[in-house]
Amino acid sequence: MKKQLLSLTVNGDVVDVAVASNATLLEVLREHLGLYGVKEGCSEGVCGACTVLMDGQPIRSCITLALEAEGASITTIEGLAQEGKLHPVQEAFVEKGAVQCGFCTPGMILSAKALLDRNSHPTDDQIKTALAGNFCRCTGYSKILDAVRSASGVITTAEGD
Ligand code: FES
Ligand code: FES
Repeated sequence: MKKQLLSLTVNGDVVDVAVASNATLLEVLREHLGLYGVKEGCSEGVCGACTVLMDGQPIRSCITLALEAEGASITTIEGLAQEGKLHPVQEAFVEKGAVQCGFCTPGMILSAKALLDRNSHPTDDQIKTALAGNFCRCTGYSKILDAVRSASGVITTAEGD
């Protein structure tokens, strides 16, 4: 299949990749760019394991064509830590025991980050709604909820609002 040139920003770096027109963003991130933090679960848009942020919004990269990301800014879990320091949402997941096997964790953290970026004081219902599309087989969700509540406090304090 003829390939097309895709230009996008991934974790702050502009990248150009030759992709097939039917390639998914998930394939490009993992197989072309070696970003294995983005996970492939169901491949059908159901489980949320493949969640990344496109221009700040959580999307399912398994059902997003790579060419739909032309010109977009993509954030994967590899892009959250800054200068070796974990993002507050990552720290909270570790501190609250919200990571077990870790398969759902990158998508879960990115969905939580997107929520906290638009709403630094979410209610429990708002957190549950934001994470409703991210499935976890290990934690039972209560620790994940604790982590997002905790990160909300940290981010609020850090931002001084
Ligand atoms: S792998 Fe994309 S939603 Fe499950
Ligand atoms: S920590 Fe294992 S699936 Fe969520």
